Order: sequence, then structure tokens, then C-alpha cells
Amino acid sequence: MESIARGLAGVVAVATRISHVDGAHGVLTLGGYPVEEIAPRATYEEAVFLLWHGRLPRPDEADELHHRLATRRWLPAGTVTLLHAAAVRRLPIMDALRMAVDTLQLDDVPVGHGDASATLSSAIDVVARVPTIVATYVRLLAGRPPVAPDARLRHAANYLAMLRGEPAPAEIVRALETYLVTVIDHGLSASTFAARVVVSTRSDMLSAMVGALGAFKGPLHGGAPGPALEMVFRIRERAARSGCPLAEEARRWTAEALAGGERLMGFGHRVYSVRDPRAEVLAAAAARLFERGGDATLHADARTVEAAILEVLHHRKPGRRIETNVEFYTALVLHGVGLEPGLFTPTFAVSRVGGWTAHVLEQIAEDTLLRPSSTYVGEMHDHYIPAEAAAV
Ligand SMILES: CC(C)(COP(=O)(O)OP(=O)(O)OC[C@H]1O[C@@H](n2cnc3c(N)ncnc32)[C@H](O)[C@@H]1OP(=O)(O)O)[C@@H](O)C(=O)NCCC(=O)NCCS
Repeated sequence: MESIARGLAGVVAVATRISHVDGAHGVLTLGGYPVEEIAPRATYEEAVFLLWHGRLPRPDEADELHHRLATRRWLPAGTVTLLHAAAVRRLPIMDALRMAVDTLQLDDVPVGHGDASATLSSAIDVVARVPTIVATYVRLLAGRPPVAPDARLRHAANYLAMLRGEPAPAEIVRALETYLVTVIDHGLSASTFAARVVVSTRSDMLSAMVGALGAFKGPLHGGAPGPALEMVFRIRERAARSGCPLAEEARRWTAEALAGGERLMGFGHRVYSVRDPRAEVLAAAAARLFERGGDATLHADARTVEAAILEVLHHRKPGRRIETNVEFYTALVLHGVGLEPGLFTPTFAVSRVGGWTAHVLEQIAEDTLLRPSSTYVGEMHDHYIPAEAAAV
């Protein structure tokens, strides 16, 4: 039998200029820039431009992109109607988002294959509107009226303003923006691959986004930041009850979890055998955020819990090279920004839609059908026997 690359692990399926992941050395570059260099300083608009065009924008180009995004944030009336219906049924945010993105076609201009400028407009539309969909839906779920987008605010600031109902302080916006740039792209993740497969058939941008969102919402992909934060809170509570130092309680908790066969959320990665470089960027962002206010001890406690968990993991699973991944500090940053855990994965999508659209543009330019092969392992039959004949 032919050999099968289970889960396509190790198969290089496309060449890309969008991001580079070196799992052995813990390196991630976005459009050629190290993540730790670009994420704390660039705006989301600059990062999207970089992924779409392969270079950073000039100031006038950044302003123009801001303007184009800001004027496309409004949702078609049919999309808002759908979000109301989804809220009545209390559908999960990721399901409402996927369904709503499909309805953006209600006022999308039809794009012919090879029409690069119309495809880019479609990319701008979807990047501009995903935050509006999430914020509108979350407010409807909470029984509150949606907040209209504010064209004066940049992408990250506007998303927060639509969620909160008022503009957020600059340091909160910067922390969210650092997160949005950090996770905007990550090689050929499952959702990115799904987007590329869809558009490789010469399908369209919106279909690719719906495919990507479908792949993204699965628990093996969209992430574990909610549970990672819960874990820190649970260990803190146990330490408060037992009176044990936090590190000791965290070691005990980890040993029990491992003995019960549990996975520790926020640790381990399929690609990285060293510390996920995104964890470092987000840890620094969390430190800056918590220095200025909020739950002052949470950051220090999370550091203590992280160190204790790694100590036990390294001891119990020697040679496995399990390190902290992006989700551990995502949880801390997004919590510090004031988002509920239910918003962590949708906010990840608000960022990643930038990467998906860039990959779609790249795949369209590549114009190669992505169509792997399979090996048949079922039974073989020489003749068809009708059911009535077989019963005689
Ligand atoms: C991300 C993940 C699925 C990658 O796993 P993978 O590369 O497929 O590695 P495997 O699942 O084959 O695990 C290899 C070994 O490490 C252990 N391991 C890996 N991650 C672990 C974790 N977070 N907690 C406990 N053990 C872990 C496995 O139990 C296994 O040990 P064993 O061989 O003794 O049974 C895995 O690390 C995990 O489940 N992490 C927790 C969830 C998480 O944080 N996800 C977000 C990723 S960004």
C-alpha cells in the first residue's frame, strides 16, 4: 500500500510569502519581519497591508487602507436580520459569525476570476466587517443594542468601542492590537489550508472565508485560551483555600491533572518543540497591560503557575519538549483587555481573517488546484447483486 502522510504532517503543499514558522528554533516571521519586532508596534492595518502586498505601507497608503476599511464596516440589513435570528436561538458566536459572513454576499459585488482589484475589495470588505459581526452579535446576545462603527477609530479601537459601547483607553487598544498582529497568520494552519483549497477551485473570497471559519471553530484549532485562564483561576482558588504557596499548589494540581490523563491547556504545540515565540510577545504585552492597572497580581500569579507547570511537565514527560504556547498568554492579554472568555476565539478570528484573505489572494495568483490523492482501503466486489437476489 502507498504510504499515507497522516494528517498531512510534514507535507509541504504551498510556497508562501505570508508567514514563516520554524518550529525547531521558535521563530515566526510575518511578511519577513520577526513577530517580536512587528507585533508590539505595528497597527493591524499595517500588518494586513504587509500580508496583502508583501511590503509595509507608506503613511498615505496606511491612511487610505484605514479609510477603505472604515467605510466598509457597516453590515447589510439582511446580515443584521440573521444575527437577530441567531441571537434568539442563542447560537454560539462562532456559528453566528460563519453564517453572517455568508450573507455579506447580499451587497458584495460579483468578482470574476482573475479580477485582482475586485478580489482585493472583497478582502477589505470581509476584514472590515468581521469585527462588526462579532460585536453586533455579542451585544444582541446580551440584550443590548448594537453600537455603530466609528469611522474615526482605527480597526482595533473600533472593535473595542463596538463591544464596550465607549472608546477604550490607549493602552488597552495597544494590547489588543499587539494580539491581533501576533496571531494574524501562522503558516498553513488548518483554516488557512481550507481557505486555499476552496479558492483553488477558482471559487470566491467569501466562500473561502466560510470554509476557513468552519475549520477554525473546531476545538483542535481555534484554541484553548479560555480553559487556560480557567486553569490559572482554579489553581489560585485552591491555593487560597489550602493556604499553600501558589507554586506548590500549581505543582500539586499539575501532577494530579497528568495522573488523570488531562492535557494542560496553553502548553505543547504540534510545530514548536521550543517555546512558542508568540507566547513571549504576548507575555510582554500582558506585563505592560497589568503594570498599568487591572488585576495586578494575576500576571505574577500566571508566571508562577506557568513555571510550576513547566517544571512538572519536564519532570513527568522528559524528552517531550513541551513548552508554553500562544494560548496561555492570549488568555491573559484578552482578559486584561476586558474580554469574556467566550470572545477569545471570535477575536482570534477577527485577527486571522487578515491572514486568510492574504492566502486567498496568493492562491488566486498561484492558480493551482489543490487536490491530493487518497488510497482506497475498502472491499472489492466483482459484481453488483441486487438486494432482492441476495435475499433469496
Ligand atoms: C497542541 C497539542 C494538541 C499538540 O500535540 P501533539 O504535537 O500532537 O503531541 P501529542 O498529542 O502527540 O503529545 C505528545 C506527548 O506530549 C504530551 N503532551 C503534549 N501536550 C501536553 C499538554 N498540554 N499537557 C499534557 N501532556 C501533553 C502527550 O500526552 C504525549 O505524551 P505521551 O506520549 O506520554 O502520551 C498538545 O500539545 C495539546 O493538547 N496541548 C493542549 C491544548 C492547547 O494548548 N492547544 C493550543 C495549541 S496552540
